[in-house]
Amino acid sequence: MKIVFLSQSGAIGGAERVLLDLMAELHQCYPHWAIDLIAPAAGPLVEDTRAIGVAAHVVEFPAALARLGDSAPASRAGHLLLQLGRLGASSPAVHRYANRLNGMLVARDPDLIHANGFKMHLLGARAAPPRSALVWHVHDFVGARPLMRRLLRAYAGRCDMAVANSRAVAADLRTALGPSPRVAVIYNGIDLERFVAGGDTVDLDAIAGLPAAPPDVVRVGLVATAAHWKGHRVFLRALALLPRALPVRGYVIGGAVYHTRQSQISLAALRQEVTRLGLAERVGFTGFLPDIAPALHALDIVVHPSIQPEPFGLVVAEAFACARAVITSGSGGVAEFVEPERNALVHRPGDAAGLARAIARLLDDPGLRGRLGEAARITAASRFGRQRMAEEFAALYRAMVNAGANDAAAARS
Ligand code: GLC
Repeated sequence: MKIVFLSQSGAIGGAERVLLDLMAELHQCYPHWAIDLIAPAAGPLVEDTRAIGVAAHVVEFPAALARLGDSAPASRAGHLLLQLGRLGASSPAVHRYANRLNGMLVARDPDLIHANGFKMHLLGARAAPPRSALVWHVHDFVGARPLMRRLLRAYAGRCDMAVANSRAVAADLRTALGPSPRVAVIYNGIDLERFVAGGDTVDLDAIAGLPAAPPDVVRVGLVATAAHWKGHRVFLRALALLPRALPVRGYVIGGAVYHTRQSQISLAALRQEVTRLGLAERVGFTGFLPDIAPALHALDIVVHPSIQPEPFGLVVAEAFACARAVITSGSGGVAEFVEPERNALVHRPGDAAGLARAIARLLDDPGLRGRLGEAARITAASRFGRQRMAEEFAALYRAMVNAGANDAAAARS
């Protein structure tokens, strides 16, 4: 089997973490398969791919294509849509890029192309040689992105199978695209040897430049890319609502990893908010951390206050595997594995007071933190191993490639 993976980002956010784990597991289980990655920029994804022994190539996105997207908040999305429209199928930059990609793909002659991210879904559809099966691995909701939806619809005929990371994303895709392509659900997997209960930890205070905390402090953290919908402000407002005397510290872990214009919030603005809310001594910013398992181990409580439905919620699965007590706004894909009060606490999206109440409950009750964490660990162990994910993808690839071979035989006879 020859597979080429296409990534729309050279950075490592959730979608790329899953891609890396998938490639690592496939490479390990099927060493005779030829696997290549094509990424649009040098950087962590390319380095980490090479480190697992998979060939990685950079075909650089032109700057305009790298910044382009319609994932900004609706209030700011208008002019982005215009740009995206201009960059539609006929733009010379897109045309040149698709031609370069096609050259690489023709040279490799893959049985199957696995495209990660909306931009690569479109470019992959344009560049895929006719004999290669094409999989779109869909990590986000497209319903809320009007132009991307239209473009995906236009290219859906070339896609043989879309794989969604949750049932919520699958339902959104079916509504957005109609009956074609077929949509399958494969839940994300994580590395259950790295994300374990207890293990290496880091000094979050030192990283964030805070003085050492008193020994009884309870650490509460939000781990996310700086996307505008991840609920950073809800988290800060919740911390400000807690009585000052409580021994609690908050941590904002992660930074702006993607370059899509206006899709990310500014950490500088969040720091101002921290000062305005009088939280300067109680909240730390670590910035992007290349390895978040030790950071999760250092936290007592992990919050996930996304203000929009979360497509899957990789960090929730990772925190579960680390047996952390999680508080989540619980909508979208997360709702498919969170059982309120059993493996996590849930508050309404955007409800800072509800989040503050849940944090206060867990501060007071280490026993509850332990019970939630243990139930969460069992959920992650039974559902989110990356081996299960890789096996599901491998079965799907084989079925698609065999179906393609049968079609070709039928056409010849
Ligand atoms: C995207 C989604 C996130 C998901 C990740 C991996 O980043 O927004 O919910 O966990 O992809 O599939």
